[in-house]
Amino acid sequence: MIRNAAIQKSSTQNFYDRIADVHHFTLKLNGYRASVAKFLRSLNLEIGPDSYVLDAGSGTGLVTRGFLDAGFRPKQMIAFDLSRNSLSISRDQLRKDKKKRYEKVSEVQGNVLELPFQDGSFDLVLSCGVLEYVSLDEGLREMARILRPGGKLVFIPVKPSLVGSVLEFLYKFKIHPVENVRQISQRYFTIVGDHKFPLSEPISWSKAIFLLEKKDTGKKRKDN
Ligand SMILES: C[S@@+](CC[C@H](N)C(=O)[O-])C[C@H]1O[C@@H](n2cnc3c(N)ncnc32)[C@H](O)[C@@H]1O
Repeated sequence: MIRNAAIQKSSTQNFYDRIADVHHFTLKLNGYRASVAKFLRSLNLEIGPDSYVLDAGSGTGLVTRGFLDAGFRPKQMIAFDLSRNSLSISRDQLRKDKKKRYEKVSEVQGNVLELPFQDGSFDLVLSCGVLEYVSLDEGLREMARILRPGGKLVFIPVKPSLVGSVLEFLYKFKIHPVENVRQISQRYFTIVGDHKFPLSEPISWSKAIFLLEKKDTGKKRKDN
């Protein structure tokens, strides 16, 4: 069952509820999930059987599944999105997995600017192609809030590029300039590492990578 944070339906939610199938099919064709899995596997994310992971703006679950494909097995993973139809596709795809690698994933519907989780309750947040719909500062601040100190955010924004501009038009979002991403993320996070998708992979034509670590402000993690 998809938990619902009782929000009013916004135009973005309506849009993704309408296009969820097509969007999922398009991304399936271009190796997106495999690229995400390969990149995540290359990182030392320190995820173990006690870890809590959030895919913030998980859409149809390609990043969620890429993360699990990479071999990570957290205690719990939340696939979180505004679009109920996208979450349904995500859940249906997860259930098809015969190895039951996805049993620990729950779907929650809501707004990334009002995450229904306690401060410091996650070890890792993944967020790909979502903060383009909201204020960057508010989105990053909210993700920092629910991460424990030292927790990581794998932030994969749309980058200014030809393909990015086409997507911006089609998917009705606003690309954040890279300099803004750098400046604003450093209010809450330390930028660790310098990562890029290989140019041979289609995901690199539209997405940048920021690996961010939450600054330690002295607050301890609370259990969910
Ligand atoms: C371009 S899709 C990316 C989905 C997924 N992260 C991926 O990479 O395949 C953008 C997603 O962000 C979600 N979204 C947009 N604004 C949101 C918000 N304020 N809160 C939660 N999800 C949001 C949409 O419903 C959509 O599923």
